[in-house]
Formats: sequence, structure tokens, C-alpha cells
Amino acid sequence: MKKILKMALFLGVTSLYAQQGGMWIPSLLEGMNAKEMKTLGMKMSVADIYNVNKSSLKDAAPHFNGGCSSEIISDKGLLLTNHHCGYGQIQAHSSLQNDYLTHGFWAKNLSEELPNKNLKVTFIVRIDDVTKQVLAGTQQITDETQKAKLIEQNIAQAIKTAPKEAWQENSVKAFYDGNQYILFVTETFKDVRLVGAPPSSIGKFGSDTDNWVWPRHTGDFSLFRVYADKNNRPAEYSKDNVPYKPKHFFPISIKGVKEGDFVMVFGYPGTTQEYLPSVAVEQIVNTINPARIGIRDVALKVQDGFMRKDNSIKIKYASKYARTANYWKKWIGETKGLKKSDAVSLKKQQEIKFQQNIEKANKQAEYGNLLPEFNQLYKEFEPYNLAYNLYSELMYRTVDFLSNGVRILQMQQVLDKKGEQAFADRKKNMLSVFESVFKDNVKQVDKEVFEKIIVFYAEQMPKNLLVASLQNFDAKQLADKLYANSFLTSYEGIEKVLALSPAEFKEQLKNDIGVQFAAQLMDMNDTKVYPNYTRISTQIHALQRTYMKAILEFSKPSDRIFPDANSTLRVTYGKVAGFSPADGVDYAATTTLDGVMEKYVPGDYEFDVPQKLRELYAKKDYGRYGQNGKMPLCFISTCHTTGGNSGSPAIDANGNLIGINFDRVWEGTMSDIHYDPKLCRNIMMDMRYFLFIVDKYAGAGYLLNEMKIVK
Ligand code: ARG
Ligand code: ASP
Repeated sequence: MKKILKMALFLGVTSLYAQQGGMWIPSLLEGMNAKEMKTLGMKMSVADIYNVNKSSLKDAAPHFNGGCSSEIISDKGLLLTNHHCGYGQIQAHSSLQNDYLTHGFWAKNLSEELPNKNLKVTFIVRIDDVTKQVLAGTQQITDETQKAKLIEQNIAQAIKTAPKEAWQENSVKAFYDGNQYILFVTETFKDVRLVGAPPSSIGKFGSDTDNWVWPRHTGDFSLFRVYADKNNRPAEYSKDNVPYKPKHFFPISIKGVKEGDFVMVFGYPGTTQEYLPSVAVEQIVNTINPARIGIRDVALKVQDGFMRKDNSIKIKYASKYARTANYWKKWIGETKGLKKSDAVSLKKQQEIKFQQNIEKANKQAEYGNLLPEFNQLYKEFEPYNLAYNLYSELMYRTVDFLSNGVRILQMQQVLDKKGEQAFADRKKNMLSVFESVFKDNVKQVDKEVFEKIIVFYAEQMPKNLLVASLQNFDAKQLADKLYANSFLTSYEGIEKVLALSPAEFKEQLKNDIGVQFAAQLMDMNDTKVYPNYTRISTQIHALQRTYMKAILEFSKPSDRIFPDANSTLRVTYGKVAGFSPADGVDYAATTTLDGVMEKYVPGDYEFDVPQKLRELYAKKDYGRYGQNGKMPLCFISTCHTTGGNSGSPAIDANGNLIGINFDRVWEGTMSDIHYDPKLCRNIMMDMRYFLFIVDKYAGAGYLLNEMKIVK
């Protein structure tokens, strides 16, 4: 037996997944990470990834508009990101005559590239640890508010004094819940132009049905170009700007990927919570996720019913539906995954070990009470956490009538607190918000969503935090009354009220049944729910910081304690690998264009396939991008990614671009809380499909001339 185990270890069988998971700081890879990456097959050195003295991969991986990731693929600033990341820009340039969302867009030369308002990309110049400076003098302070204040001052000082060029900016971010602070020197480019996008039937193929799903067949990419001034520095848009000359750009590999290959994803993951105590995970699994899934479920079912019957409603609600469905679907997968991977029991086991470590180190005074305190605090937190989540879903995300009420009440607050001038200034902006709300609003749909959702809300809310008028009520009567009598149901109604004099405006709100209903809900939240929610959250955060400190103290490098995601640049690495999400189900690691044709539904808004693509498929006209008569499309790996990693470069052992990250598999979406290498996979589009679409489908092969293609 022992012999077999030894043998297995020797062959690396038991450690197949051992070195994976985690999102690491690119400037701190030396040591444990470097060794692991080598073992997994990486041929570069970590200095090729991050280097302050000479160009490195980090110089080609900018943050795309604060929310997505991207990569530079030519020495003329050509930038690649996802279709769903560039969606807003593509949409903004689209009209009935030039419908780029439907038909795609390809600039034939620099002069046809389209400028974008409010679009920026940010490059990292330098990463410095400033923990000592930021925490200086804080150890003696016990009061949390005072401590936070000093930290804030120290951060401001660090930002002010860290050396940088005039066109660069400094910022500081907290890591490990405030146990480490890191300073970033960055350059932000504001002239970024749209170069190309495939039609949505390629870039969004499979839409909501395939979202978070493997096997996947989406060509989720769009192309931009970064422009700079004559000195190659950031500048506002100007027709005199020139393509940015990057310090580095990614060569694109057409060698192909296969099961077991090393892969590294380099981007800006948004948020994870990998070090929650078990009691917090239990609360998410048993209370919070079911509530927010349930409430969105109601809205989605009603909307879907209308969308299926009426094409104009489908168009109006498509984007709203997709937005609501994205995290609804994620939370369902997350809950299932947390259960399937036994996250809570695993955490409980770790907590037993944690208590033993405290005793061994004789640190009871400092850490002995952490876990009991977590238990106590989360118990106290639960009703407020539930109430606040339900309230947010109801008021901000699912019922337009109620979000309109919130907006109108906010206008009243502006009037009361900041005066008539501020009120007048705000009006124009507010009207354009209402305009876009009603562009995609159908009163009958909204009303039915309200009628169904309010029942769910009243049932799920802790009774002592539920407004009196919902303790006992008839939903149909309430909906009829509100939607027949309130001005909140139409743009014209709201416009009229906003045009009134301040005194009349206030009078009108007092008399409107809809505004008053929203005000009741808002008042309950503002007085009874939110203050408690934030008070306990602050206590939990302070506790979490100490917990993290202890975890770090008791750990060795081989425990692989990585900092939670915080929208800063991270490296995650692993292998191209299929997976088995359920008994009898085995997924391959790659897909091909064949799958697009298998899913093809003529005329369907999710699964239609453009004629040109069908022709290329019929002729198998894949050029040098195909492999064994097939056109590769997507692949998955064990890289640990999250929201914000969309658009990230997927890089091979030599630093060449092999894919672009855009999603995760549904069975592994719990990776935000608990990464399980057996179930968690990130989804990338194969770069060969990108080249095939640009070259063969779009006939934009001239763009390939500026790229570096390697085999
Ligand atoms: N699930 C991916 C990520 O969170 C893609 C979302 C965009 N696609 C969609 N069908 N909503 O964000
Ligand atoms: N689709 C996500 C994004 O837009 C990525 C993920 O959650 O895996 O960033």
C-alpha cells in the first residue's frame, strides 16, 4: 500500500491538482510560485512576467475601463478584449443603418476607427509594497474608526510621495483584508478607438442559455486601438494622436493547445472571498443565495413569459433580462458547487486545525475568541443581511416602478439637503436616466413582476423588518391601485412632476400613492436595516482582518495563501484540463466549430449562425488556423479566475497568446468562495478562432499584418 502511494506521488498522480488555484501578485512570484510554474511546464522566468527595469508581459496587459481585462497584440497599440466588455461601445456606435451589434464592424484603416467617450485603459508601470508605511503607528490604536483614519492618512501620504512621472498616477490597495498594502504606479490612456467586432451571432453566440456553460462556442472578442500623443504618453482624444507604441505586445501562437498544457491567465479579477469562516459560507448557501436567486427567479419568469409571446417586448427586455440572469445563474451554480465540494465541512475541519494552531503557538489571548465571535456576529448579521439583499433586489434591480420611486425620493433629498439650485442642476441628468428606463419598459410587464415579486418579498423578509402595509395584503389589489394612480408609471408623468416648482413637487410626492409606498420601504431600510447592516459589517471586517493575520502567521508557503481578488493585476496558472462534473459526465477540454453547427437554430436570437460562417464551415476553409480538418473554438483550464478576468490574455509556457478568457463553467462558479480543482474551470476562446474570424470571416486580414503570429 505504502509502495503504491509512494509510486503515485512519484508519478505526480496525487498532486495532479496540488499546485493550482490562487491569484497571485505578479511582482511577488519568486520562490514558491516560480517553482510551481516550472513544474507545470512554464519555460519563461518570472522576471519575464513582471520586471520594472525592462519590458515584460505586464506592459501588454492593461485594465480595460476599470472592469475588464485586455491585452496588446501589436506594436501599434492594437488591443484585444471580450465582445461583452466592448459591448457598450459597439452599441453606442450602432444605429438602424449601421447596426454593428447585429452585423459586426471592421475599420479598414486608422481613419475609420471609432473614438469612444469615457473609455480608458490603464497600464501598470510599477508595483511596490508599502505595508510598513501604511500601518505605521496603527498597532497601538484599538479604536477601529481611529485606526482607519490614520491608515487613510498614511495612504494619502504614500500616494503623494511615491516617485512617478507627471502623466502617471499612484494608488494604494489593501491586500489580505488590510494586512498588506501595495502601491501601483499606472498610466491611463483615454483615447481608445473601436477597430473591430464580430456580429453578436458570433461574439455572443449562445447568449444566456450558454452563459456560464461548458461546452461553449462563443467568439467573445472585440478589437480596439490605444492612441497616445506624439511623445507616446496618455492624452485626451485628439485627431492628432497616434497609435500607442507599447513596451511589449503578445505574439499570437497558432501551435494549438491540448490537455495538460501549461496555461497562465493574466488579468484583473474583481472580488473573491476565499477565507470566510464556515458560518459565513453556511449563511450564503442556506439564506442569502436562495433569497436572491428566488427573487430574481420571479422577475425572470414573468419577463420570459412576455418575451416569448411578443417580439417587441423581447427586444426591450433582452438586455435587462441578460443582466439579471447573469448572476442569478451564477448563484445557482455557486450554491450547488459549494454543496457538492463540501465547502462548509472542509472549512470546519480547517477551523479545528486553526484552533489547535492557536494553542500550539500559545496565542489564545490574541486569536482564541475569533471563531466564537464570528459565530456570534454572523448570527446577529443574518436578518439584516437577508433584509438588505431582498431590499436591494426589489428596489434597485427588478421593478422599474420602485426604482423610479427611489430616484424621485433621492431628488427630494437633494432639494431638502442641498437646495433648489442643486435640485435644478440634477434634473436634466435625472430626466435622461428616466428616458433610458422607459425606453426598455413595458408597464404591463413591470406591473406583473411587481405583483408576483412583492409576495415573495413579504414572505421572505424577517417580519420585524417588514413594513406594516405588507404584513397582510392582497397583491393584485395593491398592484392595480399603484399602477393605476401613480405618476411613476410613465416618462410623461415623471417629467411633469419634475417640472413643478419645488413646493409643488414636494406636495405632489406627498399625494402620490406610489411614491409613498416606495418611501415606506425606503424608510424601513434606512432606519432599521441599513444602519445595523453596516455596523455589523464593519465589526466583521475588523475580525476578518485579524483572522487573516492569524492564518498568515500559521501558514507556510506551501499552504498557498493568496490574497483575495481586489481588481488588481494577478497571475493565475494551471493546465488545460477537461473535468467531470457529475457521475457519468466527462467533459473534453476543447471545442470546435462543429459544435456551433450542432447548436445552430435558424433565426433564433441566441443560436443563429451567419451565412458566411456556415459557408466556411461547409467548405472547411480554415486555412492555417484549422487542425485535423476542424476549426478549434474554446478551451478550459484550471486557472482560478473571477468577474473582471474577462478579456484576460491566456498565455502559453513561452509567453505567447493562446486564448482570451471570458467565462467559467457553471459547476465551478463557487471558486469565488471555495476553489475546487476538480470542478473549477475557466473558459477561453482559442486565438486560432480569433484569427480565423478576422481573416476568413470578416476579410480583415490586413489587421494580421501588424500582429506577430508564431508557431
Ligand atoms: N458570465 C460571463 C461573466 O460574468 C459573461 C457575461 C456576459 N454574457 C451574458 N450572456 N450575460 O460575466
Ligand atoms: N464573465 C466574467 C467577466 O465578465 C468572468 C467570470 O466571472 O469568470 O469578467
